[in-house]
Formats: sequence, C-alpha cells, structure tokens
Amino acid sequence: MSAEKPKRIRIGAIGCGQFMSQQHLQTIARSEHLALQHLADVDPVKLQRVADRYQPARRSTRWEDVVADPEVEIVVAGVVPSLHPQIARAAIGRGKPIYIEKPLAPTVEECQNLQHLADERGVPVAVGFNRRFAPATALLKRAFQSVASPVTVFYRIATDDRIRPPDQRWKTADTLLTETVHIFDLLAYLLGSEPVAIVAHEARPNDDLVLVDYASGSRAAILSSSYGSLAQPKEHLEAILDCRAVEMDDFVEVRGYGIAGLPPVTRFAGRPYDGCDNRHVDDFAQRGLPALLEMRQRYEAAMRESGVLADSADPAAWDRARARLGDPPLPQINYASDKGWGVALENFCLAVAQGRCPANATAADGNRATACATAARRSIQSNQTVSLDARSWSLARRGSGSPQVC
Ligand SMILES: NC(=O)c1ccc[n+]([C@@H]2O[C@H](COP(=O)([O-])OP(=O)(O)OC[C@H]3O[C@@H](n4cnc5c(N)ncnc54)[C@H](O)[C@@H]3O)[C@@H](O)[C@H]2O)c1
Repeated sequence: MSAEKPKRIRIGAIGCGQFMSQQHLQTIARSEHLALQHLADVDPVKLQRVADRYQPARRSTRWEDVVADPEVEIVVAGVVPSLHPQIARAAIGRGKPIYIEKPLAPTVEECQNLQHLADERGVPVAVGFNRRFAPATALLKRAFQSVASPVTVFYRIATDDRIRPPDQRWKTADTLLTETVHIFDLLAYLLGSEPVAIVAHEARPNDDLVLVDYASGSRAAILSSSYGSLAQPKEHLEAILDCRAVEMDDFVEVRGYGIAGLPPVTRFAGRPYDGCDNRHVDDFAQRGLPALLEMRQRYEAAMRESGVLADSADPAAWDRARARLGDPPLPQINYASDKGWGVALENFCLAVAQGRCPANATAADGNRATACATAARRSIQSNQTVSLDARSWSLARRGSGSPQVC
C-alpha cells in the first residue's frame, strides 16, 4: 500500500513583476510542499506571461480575488510598497497568514497598525527580509555571537540605478525605504540589539551615509548608494570584533580573521533561475569572489556597451543587452548569489502549516526597519541626530499572547 502524499500548501501570489517572477514564483514551482493556487497582477500582459509559465489554478487582475479565494491558505505579495499595507490588512482581516515583501509599509504608523492587527487576530506575518536566511548570514551570525563586547560594522549596499527601466523607477524614489531596509533589519538581527539613534547625510539623491547607534553600544556605518558600479559586489560587510574581524562580499564569500571555528574563507553556491545560464551556481561555490567579479564585469559591460546604462527607456538597447547576455542568458546580476529568498519563503509556509512559530522577520521587525529608514530620511532633512524608541515596535509584541508572539 502506498503512503498518502501530504497535501501541498496552497499559495495565493500577488505581483508578476521582476521580483515575484524571478524569486517567489520560482520557489513555489520548485517546492514539493507548495502549490500556486491563485496569481494576480493588475497588468494583464504580465499576468498572462507569468501565469502561462507557472500555471496557477486561478488567475486575476484583482489582488482582492486572491485574498478572498477560499482555497488560498497563505498569501505572498510583492508589488509596489504603497499597496503593501492594504493587501496585508485584507489578508490579516480574513485570518490568512501573509508573507509580504519589504518594506512592510512606507510609514511607521501603517506598520504599527498592521502589527497591532496581526497580534490582535493572531495571524502570522513575515516580512521579506530574506537575508536572515542566506547561508552566508548563518556564518556571520556565528561570528557576531562570538563576542560579548560592542562591535563596529561597515556595510555597503550600492548599485547602478541607471539600469532601472521606467516601470521600475518607483524603486529609486527613496532607496532607504525600498533597499536599505534590508540592511537595517540584517544588522539588528546580527547584532541582536535595538537601534537607538540615527544620523544620516546625503551627497546626492540616494547617495547616503547612515550611522546607527545600538543599545548594546555597537555602531554601524551604512553606505547606501544608487551610484555604484554593476561590476562591483553590491553588498559588502566588514565588522571589527574584539581584535578579530569578519568580512562578507555579496553573500558569495565570508572571510574570518582570528575567529575560532570560522575558516579564513568560506564560499557559497549561487542561486539558479529558470531559463538562465546557471553555471555561476557551482562556480561561486568553488571560486567565490573571483567568480562573482568575473560575472559582474561581464554583466556591467553588456549593460554599458548595449546602451542600457545611457538610456534604460530604449527598448533597442535592451535587445542589444539581451543578445550580449547570451542564450540562455546570465541571470539578473543582483540575484546571482543566494540571499536566502527560497528558504525564507518555504520556511514561513511550512512553519505556518505545521503550527510552529516561523523564524522569519515579523511585523515588528518590519516596523523597526521602516522606523530606521524614515528616521534616516528625517536626519538628512533636519541635519540632526534622530532618536529611536524600540517600544514603538516592541510594544505590540508584549502581552498579546497571540501565535505570532512566540
Ligand atoms: N526581497 C528582495 O530581495 C526584493 C528584491 C526586489 C524587490 N523586492 C520587493 O518586491 C516587490 C516588487 O518588486 P519588483 O521588483 O517585482 O517590482 P516591479 O515594478 O517589477 O513589479 C511590481 C508589480 O506589481 C504590479 N502591481 C502594481 N499595482 C498592482 C495592483 N494594484 N494589483 C496587482 N499588481 C499590481 C505591477 O503590475 C508589477 O508587475 C516590492 O515590494 C519590492 O520591494 C524585494
């Protein structure tokens, strides 16, 4: 007699843009635990293209239909951040767990409302801070946990935002909110301490230096810029511990200096993508940073020589770029390394289905990250240090006794 197959968890996905189509929908399609029940995007052309590839049981141009679908058990959403609060509120209101992309909401007030609602209703919410689940992060966490004293961290997150086509330019309205929130979350997670003050300066729009003080006495300097080069690793961390140190490049390589149990160099496999040249996956695992640099140089040259970096609104430039990226093409360069997207989503869905507390970033974590981003923006505008009060994101956690509070 054959054992009965466990039922797959039915996912309702909202968004067929660059991120959802290259990350969460591929994770769902590859997972033996998940099934794509319902897919939505307001743009019928994108919806058709993506739905034809990932074959949901149902499709819609209205996200409300996904949330209302009685067959949908968990909602996964990644659209424009201004819509995140509405979608999250609707899902929580129906008692449906939701994995919502970052930022949870553009304002602290909206984050707090969502956090309270989720706690009140006992509905699990995960915010898409996937870097917590990157294999490289596990090693960094070990390094940070090996010291009791305050540490000093430098983090760079920089890309060349000229690559954004017009329909993606909403991402550059305020990169502290759309990008750097990842780093505010990652650093609070690695340091195990709450941010208490922020001072930030901006040289050009989205060319920012942000200094963060933590309750533990640790300090971080974040360089967040839209004026980087695609040829350079987008992210880089270096932390000075107590006469020992750790460095990380783009989640491909971690280097330990004098830390017991941490090798001098650890390399991590890349992430594979449907329909792409996936040779980088093993190449990163074997050669680490040099393999990443070669791939980045090739990608940057393709974007520059095709004319995309000069005019990303020119379709002919994108055609030339595609021709230079090969057949099958290189994956989008900032997605080549494994930043934990797949494990973060699958972990949340499995934990919810099994009645366990998900290890993902919660609504409170989403609230903290938005509080940091908005404080940094206020500091830039006022030229003053802005204080942060952890009670504004930890209050809702206390005393509610809901399943989200584990
Ligand atoms: N975790 C990460 O590493 C990461 C990386 C990139 C983007 N993201 C997040 O993913 C989300 C989407 O980013 P993207 O890169 O796919 O952007 P995108 O602009 O490519 O896609 C946005 C999609 O949302 C759709 N949309 C807009 N309004 C809608 C509505 N009312 N109903 C349904 N669909 C609607 C658009 O048609 C588009 O397809 C954002 O929240 C972004 O912050 C996360």
